[in-house]
Amino acid sequence: MKKKKVYNIAIVGLGNIGSYLFNFLNNNKNNLSNKNNANFKLLYVSAKNRNKKRNIRIKKKQWIKNYNDILKKENVDIVIELIGGAEGAAKKLVFGALNKKKHVVTANKALISKYGDKLSKIAEKNKVNLEFEASVCGGVPIIRSIKEGLIANKINRIYGIFNGTSNYVLSSMDINKTSFNETIKKAIKFGYAESNPASDINGDDVASKVKILSCLSFNSFINKNIHVEGIKDIDEEDINNSNKLGYKIKLMGFSEILNNKIYQRVHPTLVKKSSYIASVNGVLNAVIVDGKPIGKNIIQGDGAGPAATTSALVSDISSILRGNIKFPFAISNNKRKNFPSGNIGDLYFSSYIRINVKDKYGVLSDVTKIFSNNKVSIKRVLQSPNKNKKSSSIVIITHRSKDNNIQKTLKTLAKKSYIIQKPKLLRIENG
Ligand SMILES: NC(=O)c1ccc[n+]([C@@H]2O[C@H](COP(=O)([O-])OP(=O)(O)OC[C@H]3O[C@@H](n4cnc5c(N)ncnc54)[C@H](OP(=O)(O)O)[C@@H]3O)[C@@H](O)[C@H]2O)c1
Repeated sequence: MKKKKVYNIAIVGLGNIGSYLFNFLNNNKNNLSNKNNANFKLLYVSAKNRNKKRNIRIKKKQWIKNYNDILKKENVDIVIELIGGAEGAAKKLVFGALNKKKHVVTANKALISKYGDKLSKIAEKNKVNLEFEASVCGGVPIIRSIKEGLIANKINRIYGIFNGTSNYVLSSMDINKTSFNETIKKAIKFGYAESNPASDINGDDVASKVKILSCLSFNSFINKNIHVEGIKDIDEEDINNSNKLGYKIKLMGFSEILNNKIYQRVHPTLVKKSSYIASVNGVLNAVIVDGKPIGKNIIQGDGAGPAATTSALVSDISSILRGNIKFPFAISNNKRKNFPSGNIGDLYFSSYIRINVKDKYGVLSDVTKIFSNNKVSIKRVLQSPNKNKKSSSIVIITHRSKDNNIQKTLKTLAKKSYIIQKPKLLRIENG
């Protein structure tokens, strides 16, 4: 029988993810070798601080002080980058490894969503893999599904819940009736959010994932135009109103091709309580792919954490062990396209608009006149007076209207003297 090929692996970054992967690879050598019909050796590791206490046992000869020296090692076949960030060490390592004709596996969405096109060209030229399954939705195998399992399909829309932290915060506010700030603190305490959860909360994390998924779904280059809104302005009143109206609030990412333009957006979204997406709670992620001939396909799972992320990393490593050299973004770079960008203002939504007004005679009739002047028709109105504060909260659900017209309506309203707080807009997803 032919001897199995041996691949030498180096891991750079031994934090949450790197150290879990290190132990997993050591404990599952035989199993992975049998499944992939190839062997691997965990030859080298590197991180910033040699003296840091870690729950892994590194042999003396495995440790490389300066990660750059790994690039000089001729015998390293696969470099696994688990440092993070779009610049600095992660960027230098990944560019360097691909240039040295080494396969790369990374979980770094910031790097791929920024430099993925350049990196993919080097990988293709040097006939090595650039694998990044773990960069989008942790354990949810969405990238490999698009590249392999769903290869037959023409995808026209991909959307869903792509961030576990924000989903935990919104579902916890709803279920436990807690405030945004209280919930964030709890999320950090229980390890569902990083100590600085800014990019989870402001939508940037989802935006990186949307950009990567767009390329894979539409065979396009990275498109940096994306509308991004986070969840920091959602409060208990919005959660209660949504419930009364039959909705749940989710931070969702969307990418779609309409009239040959690409529309990418991230925003808090109202979804019907009876919909599948409304039932995806806690740190779970769910990706919905809409394509032909398959129709709607849903994949759900843990979006982050060492266990789920390691599952994705091992799938990438296995792809390399099997000699499955694929184009990083599913097709050759010279076949990828640039789509013109569409603007969210041209899309049509049914929307939830909340305005807090001074409780005065004639306000509601003035508000409805502004909607009508901007060609936005009203479907439902909820008015809750607050007698003590002499104010009133008005929630309006609109019929499907052009987003530009809704935004003009909000701008006009914001200038009115009876408005107490900046009007709030949440778009509704009916699909
Ligand atoms: N955490 C998750 O749930 C999750 C999920 C999906 C994807 N990811 C991605 O996985 C990657 C790693 O995340 P993580 O949570 O494991 O991060 P982490 O715990 O902060 O670990 C980062 C590691 O990088 C090392 N490092 C930092 N700067 C370095 C440098 N200049 N040279 C060499 N090593 C350096 C650190 O070394 P020291 O240990 O010596 O300080 C540490 O071991 C990121 O791209 C992240 O976005 C994470």
